Amino acid sequence: MNRMRGLQCAIAMALVLTVIGESAAADRARGRSIAQRWCSECHVVSPGQLHASDTVPTFAQIGQAEQFDEARLSAFLAAPHHSRMPDLSLTRSEIADLVAYIKAQRP
Ligand code: HEC
Repeated sequence: MNRMRGLQCAIAMALVLTVIGESAAADRARGRSIAQRWCSECHVVSPGQLHASDTVPTFAQIGQAEQFDEARLSAFLAAPHHSRMPDLSLTRSEIADLVAYIKAQRP
């Protein structure tokens, strides 16, 4: 009986981990499509992108920066005042997706 419980428990855990893994991947994928739509005019958002403004940091540079910090990045994207960066009125979930995407560019 106990063994059966253990097995059920392991299966449940595996399911939970699968769901968590998939939702993280979905966030990144959504972040990527938002980035391509809204950010790629100025930023290089993925390695394959050839054209953007050369005075603007690439997403790889932002993600790999020593001082990279998710909370700071989210706060910046919610209100990029005092910056040459435009305020794109992103929603919280769009910001979370973008941060997940930029974070994924870390080595
Ligand atoms: C119209 C051009 C433009 C668009 C569109 C744009 N950015 Fe920017 N972004 C800039 C510029 C210019 C800077 C540099 C700001 C500065 O140095 O004051 C910047 C800076 C940033 C920074 C800070 C980098 C750092 O290290 O300080 C982040 C993060 C960022 N952008 C993310 C985004 C995201 C995410 C999007 C899309 C939702 C986006 N940007 C869309 C022009 C743009």
